[in-house]
Amino acid sequence: MNVSRSTRTALVVAMIAGLFSISGLAQDPTDEAAAKIDEKFGGNIKKLFATRCSWCHQGYGMKQADGPKLAGTSKSLAQVMAQIMNGKTPMPGFKNQLKFEEVQALAEYIKALPAD
Ligand code: HEC
Repeated sequence: MNVSRSTRTALVVAMIAGLFSISGLAQDPTDEAAAKIDEKFGGNIKKLFATRCSWCHQGYGMKQADGPKLAGTSKSLAQVMAQIMNGKTPMPGFKNQLKFEEVQALAEYIKALPAD
């Protein structure tokens, strides 16, 4: 096949553009999980997480830091809610700072995160 240089260049450019558009579609999994929760609770769950939890739980729950990675937790929804309310040394409890709905929303967000 006799393909001219300019045709080849055009094909390479098209392929690279295609790769960029595919990677652009790959959504941040924390945004995907948050979207469902925000719709249900009518708040901004990632903002709440950033304010209260991010100094120990990094990457919106996706990475281990002072606290463990939360995505893929083996705890049930009820156990996650209990941990948020009561804490477990060195994690503080949040039952006096957060509304019940906020605890529930955080727990549902954590359970909605993909395990890896
Ligand atoms: C001061 C640091 C700190 C803060 C702030 C903090 N955590 Fe934690 N968290 C930890 C530590 C440390 C653990 C591990 C404790 C243990 O179970 O031994 C933990 C454990 C957890 C667990 C249990 C994970 C599992 O699979 O066992 C959940 C759920 C959790 N945190 C959620 C939250 C949420 C939600 C917030 C914000 C409202 C928060 N944490 C704020 C330090 C923190």
